Amino acid sequence: MINSLRGMNDILGEDYERFTYFLNTASDVATRYGFHFVETPLLEETNLFKRSVGESSDIVGKEMYQFIDKGNNDVCLRPEGTAGVVRAFIQKKLDKKGGIHRYFYHGAMFRYERPQKGRLRQFHQFGVESFGVADVYEDASVIMMLSDILKALGIKYRLQLNSLGCQNCMPIYRENLVSFIQKHEDEICEDCIRRKSTNPIRVLDCKNKKCQEIYADAPQLLNNLCDECKSDFEKLKKILDENEITYEIDTKLVRGLDYYSKTAFEFVSDSIGAQSAIAGGGRYDRLVEFLDGKPTPGVGFAMGIERLLELIKMPERKRDGYYMGAMDEEAVSLVMKLTQQKRKTHKAIVEYKPKNLKTHLKNADKVNAKYCCVIGDNEMKNNTIWIKDLETKTENTIKIGEL
Ligand code: HAM
Repeated sequence: MINSLRGMNDILGEDYERFTYFLNTASDVATRYGFHFVETPLLEETNLFKRSVGESSDIVGKEMYQFIDKGNNDVCLRPEGTAGVVRAFIQKKLDKKGGIHRYFYHGAMFRYERPQKGRLRQFHQFGVESFGVADVYEDASVIMMLSDILKALGIKYRLQLNSLGCQNCMPIYRENLVSFIQKHEDEICEDCIRRKSTNPIRVLDCKNKKCQEIYADAPQLLNNLCDECKSDFEKLKKILDENEITYEIDTKLVRGLDYYSKTAFEFVSDSIGAQSAIAGGGRYDRLVEFLDGKPTPGVGFAMGIERLLELIKMPERKRDGYYMGAMDEEAVSLVMKLTQQKRKTHKAIVEYKPKNLKTHLKNADKVNAKYCCVIGDNEMKNNTIWIKDLETKTENTIKIGEL
């Protein structure tokens, strides 16, 4: 027997219902905020992710599904959605056009991680990217959109917030941090020693307990912001307060992708175990120029759909459509024909095998039909059909033409 690959799941049955309910809800909310759908390829040039997510990140360094294709191109399955959307934005010359462009997307992402609950190698994200607004009001808007999506799905969350500073204040902070790390080089883990030269701020979210204790005294990002970043962060908090979005400040929240500046955030759930991040995002004002576009500010987020599935409160399932059955072989083809007619406007499910009325009613209930329609001997003779409304429990025999 051939099974799916490790960390790659099928989505079907009840999970699929939750999945589509999530997508419909999230797409509705994003549309209400003025975002438009965008689809980008699953396969991209490897360099796209090296130059955006960053070579020092775990995603690019260890987790890419990367290979040389038959045309000798170095390609990889996308590990995230932002880089592809930014590439499309530049390729369509929207950076040159100026103005505001807001997109949402969903689809499969691939990361060669060690699979465990909530951590897959193929998973699905719903994400949004907004281009052209440098103002922190847009950061607040995308955070409120994410909060609206989670509220509509009945999902409780904690929002963690930080600012990563800009090209003016971040380099100074980075130097301070490197001096701090140097003083503790004998005590920290090997990964952190490596991060010191590749991307020092990543040491802050090292999972090693001893490292964590040491970094408790490290200089804090938020105390090193320039006036503009400080004022933006204050504005952001004020808007969130005014809109009753509660948040926690987490000065160690640095995100696992290198393209962020200023606002960084994560939404976490306390009900799904160790892989608790259900969404993450932030501002990436330099990413468009890193990928050779005209400098354009950007901000966005992505949600991990698999991690949300079990948290979604589904609406009560309503009975829907027709179940059609025959009691004798002779009536089956008529039942088929009527089903085909019904399918032009309604959901209709047909049973090919003749069965007694009790079994048809049971089957109709199982498929959650609203109406159970059955043709037997008598109905055949009289050109009628027996119909029961499974919601109101009323039953009737009507002329076939009236169905
Ligand atoms: P990210 O934090 O790497 O951000 O991923 C976003 C979400 O995807 C996570 O919060 C998590 O729910 C889900 N996720 C990540 N890895 C896995 C996995 N292995 N298995 C299951 N779910 C996973 C990004 O990808 C950025 N592109 C977000 C963004 C958009 N920033 C700005 N715009």
